[in-house]
Amino acid sequence: MGIVGRARLLPRLGLTGVVLVAGCARTGPQTSLVPVSDFARDILHVYGIITWAAVVIAAVVVSALCWVLLRYRDRPDAPLPPQTRGHALLEISWTIAPALVLLVIAIPTIQVVFRTQAATPPDALEVIVRGRQWWWEFSYPAYELVTANELHLPLGRPAVLRLEGPDVIHSFWVPQIGGKRDVVPGRRNELGFTPDTPGTFLGQCAEFCGTSHANMLLRMVVEPADAFERWVVSERAPALQPQAGPAADGAAVFASSACVGCHTVRGVSTGVVGPDLTHFGRRATLGAGLLPNSVDNVTAWILDPPRIKPGVKMPALGLTEAQARAIAVYLLSLK
Ligand code: CUA
Repeated sequence: MGIVGRARLLPRLGLTGVVLVAGCARTGPQTSLVPVSDFARDILHVYGIITWAAVVIAAVVVSALCWVLLRYRDRPDAPLPPQTRGHALLEISWTIAPALVLLVIAIPTIQVVFRTQAATPPDALEVIVRGRQWWWEFSYPAYELVTANELHLPLGRPAVLRLEGPDVIHSFWVPQIGGKRDVVPGRRNELGFTPDTPGTFLGQCAEFCGTSHANMLLRMVVEPADAFERWVVSERAPALQPQAGPAADGAAVFASSACVGCHTVRGVSTGVVGPDLTHFGRRATLGAGLLPNSVDNVTAWILDPPRIKPGVKMPALGLTEAQARAIAVYLLSLK
């Protein structure tokens, strides 16, 4: 390689290194290194054992390699060392050593596998999670409530998610809660854990499921029991319908357009193709985590959903900008 090539190579290597290291933030939004449930702590524990075992083995192997390279390097005056072909003790030991390493890793791994597949505790909160192209539906049978893309859970109470895939295979993944679990049509997988830290934790679909796979995000809100109970009460209540003003105009447009065929607003419509919008105004985001929930963004979404979310099943309905904005104001009033 010439001088010029080398001069270009160094900045490129440097830039690549910076980009790689930038992905290493321990507290990034979807970190798996800051666990917030028993499930995630168990996995991180095994991960720690494997990482430290790998560090020790790498140190031993690299040190031995360096020593051999230095000790037996080619020297003009040194005689050839004795040549060895076959060494029973060495071969037995480097067969047994990796087997021992695997055994050390296998014991805690198998313990965690069984612990995370254990039967659901009787006081667990059951949530049916349906992965759909490309959003998440959460229904709570005990409370007869359905919501989308924002999963609320009470702090410190075991939760069991029963995962259903009505269309294709998805994978439910909130890294701080624990590992991925596939959402498979015709099968009901379960994911049980107890959230132990309050906060909002981000997740996403982790199995390629079509055009907008990357746009299938979710948020998990873990809150103290009393806040969760308040959330349940307000989610179960019908949304207050606006009586006058721009929101009421929007309600009229909503009720007379194709929206009602696909979306439920309890007391107004019963569509089940798209997300339940009864309390849409309380959600933080739009389009399964794509955009902040604001009048401008919802208007742009209604005017042309596929422009914002490629492949989305909701078509542009041919509404005017004024009609779309009126519906946006209405939907955001649904608290
Ligand atoms: Cu759903 Cu990827």
